[in-house]
Amino acid sequence: MIEIKKFSLSDEEFNKLRRLVFDVAGICLSDSKRELVISRFSRRLRALNLSTFDEYYRFVISPDGVSEIQNFINSITTNKTDFFREAHHFDFLVERFVPEIVASRRREVRVWSAGCATGEEPYSIAMVLRHHLVEPHGVQAKIFATDIDTHALDTARNGIYEERQVRPVPEELLHKYFLRGKGPAFGLYKVKDCIKESVSFRQLNFVAENYPISVFFDVIFCRNVIIYFNAETKRRVLNRLVRYLARGGYLVLGHSETIFDTVEGLTYLKNTVYRKE
Ligand SMILES: C[S@@+](CC[C@H](N)C(=O)[O-])C[C@H]1O[C@@H](n2cnc3c(N)ncnc32)[C@H](O)[C@@H]1O
Repeated sequence: MIEIKKFSLSDEEFNKLRRLVFDVAGICLSDSKRELVISRFSRRLRALNLSTFDEYYRFVISPDGVSEIQNFINSITTNKTDFFREAHHFDFLVERFVPEIVASRRREVRVWSAGCATGEEPYSIAMVLRHHLVEPHGVQAKIFATDIDTHALDTARNGIYEERQVRPVPEELLHKYFLRGKGPAFGLYKVKDCIKESVSFRQLNFVAENYPISVFFDVIFCRNVIIYFNAETKRRVLNRLVRYLARGGYLVLGHSETIFDTVEGLTYLKNTVYRKE
């Protein structure tokens, strides 16, 4: 039997590690996240053959640990997502956004999936827009998808999902925009190139000094990301995102996320969808 080594985490180590997570990614870890910190970083201790969390902390902040920072971040993010998560936001695209674009006779739209995790969100957006806007009306749709987690981005770029993961995809879209695996790939579903080509993935940390983005977006999805931030980080990040929204563009947040008066120039529509005036 293989014995998996268990590590203990002192209060001091916990506080140092969560402070570093906050400084690097803006993610706030409450006291209840102790077990999560132990389980996520234990894997890194094992991989690096270290004995204590303090050793790991000291390695990450040392000059030699520069290459570990990304693993440190990837270990602590929560990438929970689904195709067509919060389906009303995709109904919103079909019922409100698409008719507005068609009426405006615009030839191109841009949507940003900010905090895209493993790709289910941007691919859901891409499928809906291709089906309802690109194919019937000849409008180009460009989806920009970003996340801090490079491991999640690799999965997203791959665009291969298991059967249980594609279950929420409406049958018609599944049929049209996925290839079903055969033989050894049986049970796997691959996003077709026409969808993949409309999505560009890039790493972006919301708390970075600069966002290397020089375009405006018609819709920004930033769902289930700011829940990990404190009030000040939420305010800063949302205000920056809104600067990248075109006038009349929409900001779409997750179901438990409200912005109250933290962002100026937005009007609330419904179902956590806001419009920039
Ligand atoms: C729970 S997932 C949400 C995925 C998708 N938006 C959805 O609603 O299904 C949250 C994502 O936010 C990303 N994230 C957390 N902190 C971030 C930061 N500082 N900058 C960019 N992305 C971040 C995580 O890596 C994770 O993939």
